[in-house]
Amino acid sequence: MRKSDSKHLDSMFLERWSPRAFSSEAISDENLNTLFEAARWSPSCFNEQPWHYVYARSEDDLTRFQSILVDANKAWASSAPVLVIAFSKKQFSHNNKPNRWADFDSGAAWMALTLQANKLGLHCHGMGGFDQDKAYQVTNVDADKYNAICVIAVGKMISPENLSLDLQKKESPSDRKPITEFISEGKMS
Ligand SMILES: Cc1cc2nc3c(=O)[nH]c(=O)nc-3n(C[C@H](O)[C@H](O)[C@H](O)COP(=O)(O)O)c2cc1C
Repeated sequence: MRKSDSKHLDSMFLERWSPRAFSSEAISDENLNTLFEAARWSPSCFNEQPWHYVYARSEDDLTRFQSILVDANKAWASSAPVLVIAFSKKQFSHNNKPNRWADFDSGAAWMALTLQANKLGLHCHGMGGFDQDKAYQVTNVDADKYNAICVIAVGKMISPENLSLDLQKKESPSDRKPITEFISEGKMS
């Protein structure tokens, strides 16, 4: 179990982590919708809600989504019952101007989604290791309008014994640097 430096920290932050050992057991429609519902209520600049998710859960869709992953991710993420590609809309809808906060807002939405997954007994593992060009191809998403940010594996975590020996060694929650390394008062020191 991870240990916080603050006794007041909500345990949900420590309990969230990114496993690689996923059961292929399907996720119910209700649970899947609840994940997206959590993302839905995230804050965003101008309430633009720039996030867009294309998800795969049928065998055909999963095979296409798996094909865009780098091999290191394919090795474990191929057992996840759901893969989600998270996109971020580049322009504001109200004036078509560049939205430089879009990825920040989409990041907030992904965190809501993943924390909600934990509350439902599921886990998420985000992956930047994928071919961006292929992400647009397999989803029909317009690359001029959206940024392909991340592929998210969603599913039930199972015993690490289901992984190769190499991956088993990596299968544990990681630690963090202390807050003193990323906060400054007044000016960056
Ligand atoms: C945007 C993003 C990209 C990531 N890309 C990968 C990836 O390609 N492969 C992988 O195994 N993990 C990936 N991760 C998982 C991180 O390595 C992980 O979140 C980090 O080491 C902290 O561990 P924790 O999530 O278990 O707390 C990614 C996470 C994020 C948020």
